[in-house]
Amino acid sequence: MRVALGADHAGFELKQTLRTFIEQLGHEVRDLGTDSVDSVDYPDFAKAVAELVAEGGADVGLLVCGTGLGMAIAANKVTGIRAAACSEPYSAAMARAHNDANVLTIGSRVVGQGLAEETVTRFLETGFEGGRHQGRVDKLAN
Ligand code: RB5
Repeated sequence: MRVALGADHAGFELKQTLRTFIEQLGHEVRDLGTDSVDSVDYPDFAKAVAELVAEGGADVGLLVCGTGLGMAIAANKVTGIRAAACSEPYSAAMARAHNDANVLTIGSRVVGQGLAEETVTRFLETGFEGGRHQGRVDKLAN
């Protein structure tokens, strides 16, 4: 998969480790920043990643901030984006299977590296179930 990555200063360090982890899983990563722990505004990076996913330049997005919440709120402003803030693997899998989520957001101050890696793995390996869920996802768009 083509995975677009973004983070603010709070998520920078976890983003760096997740970037290596995702590449080692065999996925292609496009890192849209931030590139340091200098303070930045999370909506800027959520917008960049969400727009890349929405226009088809990436299959899914991963956004990391302190809680995962601001990134999700911001990414969901972009038409076509279904961003889910998840702090454990079950929610990440269900976000894909039932909600066809195309962006995962994670809180660096909520989860440790191991749990973040498990959560990302489940998100990337789970497909949308379609069926009865398709009509519900269509209603989200409408
Ligand atoms: C930054 O301090 C923090 O507010 C941000 O990373 C994020 O948690 C916002 O939702």
